[in-house]
Amino acid sequence: MIIIDGKKVAADIRSELKDKISQLKAEGKNVPGLVAIIVGDDPASQIYVASKGKACEEIGMRTKTEKLSADISEAELLTLIQSYNQNKDYHGILVQLPLPKHIDEDRVIETISPKKDVDGFHPISVGNLVIGKDTFASCTPAGIQELLMRYKIETKGKHVVVVGRSNIVGKPIANIMLQKADGANSIVTIVHSAANDISYYTKQADILIAAIGKAEMIKADMVKDGVVVIDVGINRIHDPTKAKGYRIVGDVDFENVSKKASFITPVPGGVGPMTIAMLLSNTFKAYKLYGE
Ligand code: GUN
Repeated sequence: MIIIDGKKVAADIRSELKDKISQLKAEGKNVPGLVAIIVGDDPASQIYVASKGKACEEIGMRTKTEKLSADISEAELLTLIQSYNQNKDYHGILVQLPLPKHIDEDRVIETISPKKDVDGFHPISVGNLVIGKDTFASCTPAGIQELLMRYKIETKGKHVVVVGRSNIVGKPIANIMLQKADGANSIVTIVHSAANDISYYTKQADILIAAIGKAEMIKADMVKDGVVVIDVGINRIHDPTKAKGYRIVGDVDFENVSKKASFITPVPGGVGPMTIAMLLSNTFKAYKLYGE
């Protein structure tokens, strides 16, 4: 059984990007830039955005955070996004979600130029993904595919079972794995909460992708021997032995499922670190395609 080291792969990706950006600087060229827009002071969002900014700085990418007050009007936010759509120094625009209730999230996402949609949330990006055109795939699913490829895990003709149908993970990863392409070409099933017996489906998986948001829901008797397990879950569970009083676990019962798996991602240190690495990678791609 091999534990997939997402922390290491993410560090490798960041280091590869850093080298490419150093090269651009040496040639006197403009460098890729990412602007993060955050509305309000939700602590979790602040942490996400700060770590994104730090990751950009570490690889020499231009970065800026626009911190807006929670009572900014939707019109003002849309105007700011439009100004970054025109800005030649920023190739990626990220609006941290969730947004305050008085702002229409769909309208905000649709205002981001698809050429700068490094989160891959714009309906044009999503549509291009579904029809198999090159596009920005959302970062966590793109990171999952990257892990499978870097660990040389065969995906062609394999049965990928995705548990969960969110727009951010379940639906895009299913569409990625369905494409007739390297690192994909899989037979894909999506199973979700309406299933009578989720294990009927998960037992058939060669590659199981758990993105449900329920702590340790996938048990050893729900998978077959040799399964490849990708755990997208990040759940807090009570643990009085920890200083914080909790620990983070995935959607998979790691201790027992790992005994049957051929490959498995841990939580933390599996899929999680890949999300920011892919955000940087998407920003570099936006620069290469539309900005250089
Ligand atoms: N909020 C939680 N995760 C994400 C993400 O990946 N992108 C954005 N824009 N907001 C988020």
